Amino acid sequence: MNQSLISKVFKGKTAKIPVWFLRQSGRHIPEYFKIKEKEQNFIKFCLNEKLIIESTKLPLKYYDLDAAIIFSDILLIPWAMDRNVKFTKSYGPSLDPMVPNETKIIKNIPITKKLEPLENSIKALRNELPSSKSLIGFAGAPWTLACYMIEGKGSKDFINTRKALWDSNKWFMELIETLINFVSLKLEMQAKAGADVLMIFDSWSHMVPNNFFKDCSINPIAKIVEILRSKKIFVPIIGFPFKAGSSIVDYSYESLVDCIALDWSVDLNWAKNNINKEIVIQGNLDPASLIPYESNYLNKNVLSILDKMKDERFIFNVGHGLTPDCKINNVKKVISIVRDYER
Ligand code: CP3
Repeated sequence: MNQSLISKVFKGKTAKIPVWFLRQSGRHIPEYFKIKEKEQNFIKFCLNEKLIIESTKLPLKYYDLDAAIIFSDILLIPWAMDRNVKFTKSYGPSLDPMVPNETKIIKNIPITKKLEPLENSIKALRNELPSSKSLIGFAGAPWTLACYMIEGKGSKDFINTRKALWDSNKWFMELIETLINFVSLKLEMQAKAGADVLMIFDSWSHMVPNNFFKDCSINPIAKIVEILRSKKIFVPIIGFPFKAGSSIVDYSYESLVDCIALDWSVDLNWAKNNINKEIVIQGNLDPASLIPYESNYLNKNVLSILDKMKDERFIFNVGHGLTPDCKINNVKKVISIVRDYER
């Protein structure tokens, strides 16, 4: 069987560096809007097998990538928990905010049953995609999900979530424990259906107060990894502690992930010297560098990342999701630089 470059990188250094992109399936490809027209309600979109499959495969039509990431959203867990998740154009997600100490945390929800279309799509995609392409399943980290569930929306500082951490700690940690369980179940289901890599997005890990970083960011991930391993799920797991600064050092040693995804603010030379050498690094091109039509520095920028990581087990990616205004030609150019690179 022709294994994907991404699977190979977890076994040892590969001759070529694998490449895929965060948010590769979304709005920067005009054809995405044609698919979206078929279902305006984003949650229903994420539960429509045909549309999930079509959106997941879309970037592979345009780009020579080593992976497809399943088209879904981290907020499907809060949706399955009946938090009334809605996506409104130009506002983003909204949920019924949880009131710390008051909102009852319901623990026995049949998450995987509610996410059956996701499971079926992964099964179908794994059959359709060549074995040379990884299929990445994912979930939000418990902290990031708690942020959306308490705040009820995105926020610049997640002040209500942080207040809950100090003020209603027992309730808050009960929510985190519940989410650990649901995230583990969702990831287990995806791996069993055929996802050969899993990724956990902690998009708001930079909001965790430093003295809570272990309790809220590192330990929940370590517990999820332990639960999955205890269920004999051995696929590689990528953790993404977005913008967590120097805390990523402890995260790299203690979260038990096989790969750490780095955001664009991290100096790769510093990362090489300071984070756990046993794990793979993924990252970290600034997605904003893919927006300008003419980008003279793109070549230099991509090569500088490749040169820094040439002796490492490394997956080339962006340091956060591709934005709607990034240009297809720039993405193609980056991939060809990575493909041509000899280490
Ligand atoms: O291409 C892919 O990466 C696959 C699918 C994917 C989506 N969301 C689809 C989506 C993935 C991996 C996610 C993860 C996700 N969702 C994260 C973690 C990664 C990150 O960006 O930090 C977060 C925080 C969310 C929550 C979320 N979903 C927000 C805040 C929004 C609205 C903001 C926005 O970008 O529009 C979404 C909606 C969403 N999820 C879209 C897509 C393609 C846009 C929907 C649309 O208008 O078409």
